[in-house]
Amino acid sequence: MPLLRLVPRFILVAVLACSNVLGIAVALAPGLPVSITDYPKWTRLNIDRVTANPTGAHPQSKDVYVNLDVAVLLDDGGGYALPFPDGTVLVKERNDVSRLLADRLYVMEKQGARWEYAFYDRQADGSFSASELGADNFCHGCHTGARATDFVFTPFERR
Ligand code: HEC
Repeated sequence: MPLLRLVPRFILVAVLACSNVLGIAVALAPGLPVSITDYPKWTRLNIDRVTANPTGAHPQSKDVYVNLDVAVLLDDGGGYALPFPDGTVLVKERNDVSRLLADRLYVMEKQGARWEYAFYDRQADGSFSASELGADNFCHGCHTGARATDFVFTPFERR
C-alpha cells in the first residue's frame, strides 16, 4: 500500500476534524450559530413542503426541522411529548424557489423553559445576517396561537 497516498488523506481528515472542533465549519454558512449549521440533517416535521400560509406570517414555501430524534420528540400515542425539553431547536427554512436556495431561517430555541426567537437572512455573498430577538416579541405574540402544543404550530408529518 503506497504510504504516501495515505498520508495526505490522513492530514485532510485531521484538518477537517480540528476545524469542526474549532467551529470553522461555520465557514460553510458564515453568520449562522454553530448550533444550527447541521439543521438539514435533523428530523423534518413536514412531509410535503409547506406552501399554505394560514396566518400570512411566513410567506413562501418552507420546511421545518427539529434537533430531536423521533424517539424523544413523540410520545407513545404519536403526538409531541410536551413540553419540548430545554435545548430543543426548531428551524423553519424559507425557500426562494426562483434561486433554489434557503433565503431565511426562522429559529426557536427553548432555554430555561422559554422560547428564544431569531431569524437569519442570506446576504448576496452567501453569508447570513442575524436578528436575535429574545423571548418576548412579535414572534411569540403570534406563536401563542399554538400554546396548546408548546407554541409550535407545525404538526408532525404535516402534509
Ligand atoms: C402572525 C403569526 C406569526 C408570526 C408573527 C411569527 N410566526 Fe412563526 N409560525 C407561524 C405559523 C402559522 C407557523 C407554522 C408554519 C407555517 O404555516 O408557516 C410558524 C412556524 C414557525 C417555526 C417552525 C415551528 C412551528 O411553530 O411550526 C419557527 C421556528 C418560527 N415560526 C419562528 C418564528 C420567528 C423567529 C418569528 C419572528 C421573527 C415568527 N416565527 C413569527 C406564525 C407566525
